[in-house]
Amino acid sequence: MSAQRVAIFNQKGGVAKTTTTKDLGFALAERGLRVLAVELDPQANLAIIAGLGNSQPAHLTVARLLTDPEFEAMDVPDDERAPLLDAIRETPWGVPLVPAYEDLVTAKTALTSLPQGMGAEQRLRDALDAIEQERAFDVILMDCPPAADVLSMNALVAADWVLIPTGLTTTEVSGISAMIRTVTAIQKHSNPGLKYAGVLGTRFKKAEGHQVDVAHGLEKQFPPDGPIPFLPMIRNATCVNDASAARQAVGDASPSHPVVKKDYRKLVDRLVERLDLKVVEVSA
Ligand SMILES: Nc1ncnc2c1ncn2[C@@H]1O[C@H](COP(=O)(O)OP(=O)(O)OP(=O)(O)O)[C@@H](O)[C@H]1O
Ligand SMILES: [Mg+2]
Repeated sequence: MSAQRVAIFNQKGGVAKTTTTKDLGFALAERGLRVLAVELDPQANLAIIAGLGNSQPAHLTVARLLTDPEFEAMDVPDDERAPLLDAIRETPWGVPLVPAYEDLVTAKTALTSLPQGMGAEQRLRDALDAIEQERAFDVILMDCPPAADVLSMNALVAADWVLIPTGLTTTEVSGISAMIRTVTAIQKHSNPGLKYAGVLGTRFKKAEGHQVDVAHGLEKQFPPDGPIPFLPMIRNATCVNDASAARQAVGDASPSHPVVKKDYRKLVDRLVERLDLKVVEVSA
């Protein structure tokens, strides 16, 4: 069975897309799921957190996967390791990653200037199909840039699910309707099977009454049994930041902190159910 592919998408910056890709990926892997993260953001924050650097590497990169649709570079004798697998690097927190490097900037420009009909937005879907022929995964998380650009479109076209992380201030939440319009257009024109994993409130500060009100509003607007559920929130916690600085997932760095024991656990329970993931081993 092929992986459930999840685009982590929000046009707004700093709403924890990258952090969610890392920490949710770790939490899903802890349940015994085979997780792959794919970074589609030229900022390459995930690669930087993982200590993979940001300069141009010799091995296959996501940028080349997107700009070399024929995968000519990947034709190798049967007894050799496929170069495609080289696009996947190991991370210190144990979840394999297809990281972004500087070449994604040029790749984005190249894709943007491709004439219509050249499949500029379908490239990632094809690349993931090829990767999945080489190695099996249960979940593929795609970290999008803070823009509705050709890279995010690639993620949304490749995805089965879209997860929308959002901060809990009025200005951050006001962007959700624009995202829904973008997703509706993708569903209509290029990916009719795309569904919502849900809206995820991040960096929640209970002590700020305004955020509590915003969260209640979202709960009403996006009921749990509706097509766009409001998911269990992730609180603001310095250990989340600290974990990234230490090249770790928060689940690894602070396993007994409530953000891990309560928030991520509830979120994973909900997503396992919604995405119908086959959990092998439930952590204690
Ligand atoms: N639950 C949390 N508690 C505290 N800090 C957090 C939490 N989640 C994320 N952060 C911090 O918020 C900042 C922004 O997070 P992140 O880089 O994941 O956002 P992003 O949406 O990927 O940003 P961009 O749009 O620039 O890619 C980071 O410094 C991160 O460590
Ligand atoms: Mg990011």
